[in-house]
Amino acid sequence: MQDIHKHRLLILDFGSQYTQLIARRVREIGVYCEIYPYDVDVSFIKDFAASGIILSGGPESVNESVHVRAPECVFELNVPVLGICYGMQTMAHQFGGEVASSDKREFGYAKIEISKVTPLYESVPQTQDVWMSHGDKVVDLGYEFEVIASSENAPIAAMAHKTKPYYGVQYHPEVTHSAYGKELLENFAFKICGCEALWNPASIIEDAVQKIKAQVGSDEVVLGLSGGVDSSVVAALLHKAIGEQLTCVFVDTGLLRLHEGDQVMQTFAENMHVNVVRVNAEERFLAKLEGVNDPEKKRKIIGNLFVDIFDEESAKLKNAKWLAQGTIYPDVIESAGSSSGKAHVIKSHHNVGGLPEDMKLGLVEPLRELFKDEVRKVGVELGLPYRMVYRHPFPGPGLGVRILGEVKKDYADILRQADSIYMQELEKSGYYDKVSQAFAVFLPVKSVGVMGDQRKYDYVVALRAVETIDFMTARWAHLPYELVGLISNRIVNEVKGISRVVYDVTGKPPGTIEWE
Ligand code: XMP
Repeated sequence: MQDIHKHRLLILDFGSQYTQLIARRVREIGVYCEIYPYDVDVSFIKDFAASGIILSGGPESVNESVHVRAPECVFELNVPVLGICYGMQTMAHQFGGEVASSDKREFGYAKIEISKVTPLYESVPQTQDVWMSHGDKVVDLGYEFEVIASSENAPIAAMAHKTKPYYGVQYHPEVTHSAYGKELLENFAFKICGCEALWNPASIIEDAVQKIKAQVGSDEVVLGLSGGVDSSVVAALLHKAIGEQLTCVFVDTGLLRLHEGDQVMQTFAENMHVNVVRVNAEERFLAKLEGVNDPEKKRKIIGNLFVDIFDEESAKLKNAKWLAQGTIYPDVIESAGSSSGKAHVIKSHHNVGGLPEDMKLGLVEPLRELFKDEVRKVGVELGLPYRMVYRHPFPGPGLGVRILGEVKKDYADILRQADSIYMQELEKSGYYDKVSQAFAVFLPVKSVGVMGDQRKYDYVVALRAVETIDFMTARWAHLPYELVGLISNRIVNEVKGISRVVYDVTGKPPGTIEWE
């Protein structure tokens, strides 16, 4: 089997909001890469044995932050280097050039004119639209670099070293608005660094299967299956690798969406023949949540009880030696960048935390190298249902945080029905995939309505739909009025207990995506 990590790029991160995007784009063209802070240990950079290094953008100014530089070893390793935005500025500066500071940012489209065809610009148009987002710019290249592209506002929009494979671009090729950004990254990775495209869903699966087999041997493995994307893909991957040696524990909290528990069982136990222990724990969750109104208390109760039940069940599996987790690459990057160093991340809710000491399980984390979009592609390649893999995010505490205040069974039942109608209509109209996340929220207030000749006095449901890239900020989705009207009509007519439907028009900030 080919080593899919053989050709690899190292991305040194100067703090740009686009750094993960650079890595995702590089992976998309089939090349493995990893992100590390720009000041990572020099010995680490050497040991990484990169085929090439990319210096990311960042918020600093080379004239003010003299220590925020590419480590000198980057230019001693004899590998190609591509500097993007700040990465280009610091490279120019470190090679004797000059960067002019500016308070005014250039943000948005610009047209560049390529003045010299180097391998970086092979087979692309001479004039192209690119995406700029910078304040400072390189104004003097010193002796070693030459200009290879210009824009009106940035006469040095791209540069190349005269004798070495070092390049810099002031714009952002990783952003899709840059028309030939993908080609630029391909030219860098394939033509300049000599990488091969070895990274794709099928080869990732083959690699993971081999590694899992080597790691666990004939031992048994336990996995907390939630029905979410990450744990579902881990289940499918482990099943492919070790079949019967895997047991999944699926805790049905009673706070899942309509028929979700049955769907999880159907997909994994019935269709794929994965060992799944289903624990119907609705009554235990509802009993613990009785009389509790505070959102944070609710979250803690749900999280703790979930862990307790998972522990009880997995302790019954006497032969289990390993615990599988759906940790993905962004979690790993976060922990690597944290002041506590490369701590092992255990996601707080569905990926189980507090296992009993005496269980002494080792961790299996087959998604540690993957971005979410790669996890999804791997899931589809493994044969998981498209809709399961491309489902909107669902919070760990489930409907527990979508029923405001105290959680009751009849509230959950009403909400499940309303939410299901909402999702059906979003699917039918094609809006499910156009928004990032959508769901209904149960408001425990009563409102007057009329139905036929009868007066109704029933509960209110709010519809939420947002568009976002990172879920840190979001705008409310501008769903067509006709669609919102149709959903509202169906909910009020079909769901007993609802007299009114409202649409949430709050962005994040100031709102959060969830209501609790
Ligand atoms: P907020 O409401 O903070 O949500 O704007 C941002 C994203 O996180 C999800 N979310 C959670 N996920 N446990 C989770 O696993 C939680 O307690 C939780 N709270 C919010 C939310 O659905 C959205 O995608």
